[in-house]
Amino acid sequence: MIKVFGFIGEITPGMQAAADAANLVVGGRRHLDALGVPEAKRVVLGRIAPAIEAIQALGPERNAVVIASGDPLFYGVVRRLRAAGLTVRVIPAVTSLQLAFAAVALPWDDALLCSAHGNDSAPALEAVRHHPKVGLLTDGKVGLPQIVEASAGLGRWYVLAEHLGTDDERIRVLDETAARQVGDITQPNVVLVLAHHPDDPAALGEQHAISGARNPDGSLTDQR
Ligand SMILES: C[S@@+](CC[C@H](N)C(=O)[O-])C[C@H]1O[C@@H](n2cnc3c(N)ncnc32)[C@H](O)[C@@H]1O
Repeated sequence: MIKVFGFIGEITPGMQAAADAANLVVGGRRHLDALGVPEAKRVVLGRIAPAIEAIQALGPERNAVVIASGDPLFYGVVRRLRAAGLTVRVIPAVTSLQLAFAAVALPWDDALLCSAHGNDSAPALEAVRHHPKVGLLTDGKVGLPQIVEASAGLGRWYVLAEHLGTDDERIRVLDETAARQVGDITQPNVVLVLAHHPDDPAALGEQHAISGARNPDGSLTDQR
């Protein structure tokens, strides 16, 4: 069995028990340290390919645990594990973007969620110019400065959310001028790009599945 746990901020009892019982535990160093995984059975990420090889080498009776941030199905490791032919059971946490939207109490069912992390960031940077509510995973190369540059002059608001779910969590709501002046950005972080300040009711957006269909004149149909 290969269990893939999402981790954001908290170790759950099930995660700890599975890591204790496993022959091999794969994850980021800070996750493995938090779980107290002994050197002899840990594989530190980095690259996923060596971890996949180590799991495959355990054979069919394998008892492996993979720890990944947030929801491992959202820009996470499960795609690569399954593409390698491994059968997994996924126990997700909420994604970092969900926590960022929660930090400013904004619904995210109308948001566009993108990744500028470790891949071609062009579509994500394009999205912030056209969509009023975008959440972006970032990395050390593409983060708030590049996102601000991509949306310059549009009057966007930026929510910079660092170390979500931890004691070091920090949330900053910035206009373009303030966002350009931020110098102490730490990883990991996500950025929300909004057409309205998060406290402005206009930032709530609309979800027509809940608010109802529109009449041709744009008004809402009768909700009764
Ligand atoms: C490979 S992606 C994984 C995303 C993850 N599956 C999720 O659901 O959040 C890694 C990126 O997620 C974001 N991230 C993960 N954990 C975070 C945290 N605790 N606080 C802020 N951002 C985080 C960062 O943008 C980081 O570079």
